[in-house]
Amino acid sequence: MLVDTHCHLDFPEFDADREQVIERALAAGVERILIPGVDLAACRRAVALAEQHPVVYAAVGLHPNFAAEATPAALVEIRSLAKHPKVVGIGEIGIDLYWRKLSRTEQEAVFRAQLELANDLGKPVIIHDRDAHEEVLAVLRDLRPVAGCVLHAFSGDHPLAEEAVSLGFFLGVDGPITYRKNDVLRAVFASVPLEQILVETDAPYLTPQSWRGQRNEPAYVREVVAQLAVIRNSSFETIAVATTQNAARLFRW
Ligand code: NI
Repeated sequence: MLVDTHCHLDFPEFDADREQVIERALAAGVERILIPGVDLAACRRAVALAEQHPVVYAAVGLHPNFAAEATPAALVEIRSLAKHPKVVGIGEIGIDLYWRKLSRTEQEAVFRAQLELANDLGKPVIIHDRDAHEEVLAVLRDLRPVAGCVLHAFSGDHPLAEEAVSLGFFLGVDGPITYRKNDVLRAVFASVPLEQILVETDAPYLTPQSWRGQRNEPAYVREVVAQLAVIRNSSFETIAVATTQNAARLFRW
């Protein structure tokens, strides 16, 4: 019993062997794979894959690096895709001050528009925050997600984790928790409530330590779960069951 709540299975990195990747995920015990959108084309691909594969679900939204695509027509299309029965959330949306493809102000406007859309439709949101912890949290405090929220690939410190937990948000954990240098991240995930943790791969990126340097894939979510079990003095089974239930609670699947 496992889920991968953040995987870019629609990306070209998987074009040559997508079916085998899904087969390996199933063999590893992964019951659900959620593909978030990044740009409009990715949203369409995610929904198409969700239609083809029972195990695949989709979220739709414009990643801050693609926020320039957020024309009124694009937002209308996202709204319409979001009504598809296998679209379980809006994302990934947020602010990225590392790449800064658009100004902070422009990114925030697109982020807010999509938060409003999610609240309108009663869908949870998947948040991308890169080097923008304070900016993202300020928006989320102001425009509370009514149907739930996950901070994808959480990379903040203890105070930020505590605030996110107190706001009822889920924290997403990926391969970096297995990297040797990431003691701070391990300490954060050792102490947040298990009921608020989601496991992700962010494949093809953020490959766990054992396969580092190779393409990531959903089956490798097992290594994230195993690491959580170690740092929390728990069993693989307990973490797997809890995080699978958490995902079901947030995404209502
Ligand atoms: Ni992602």
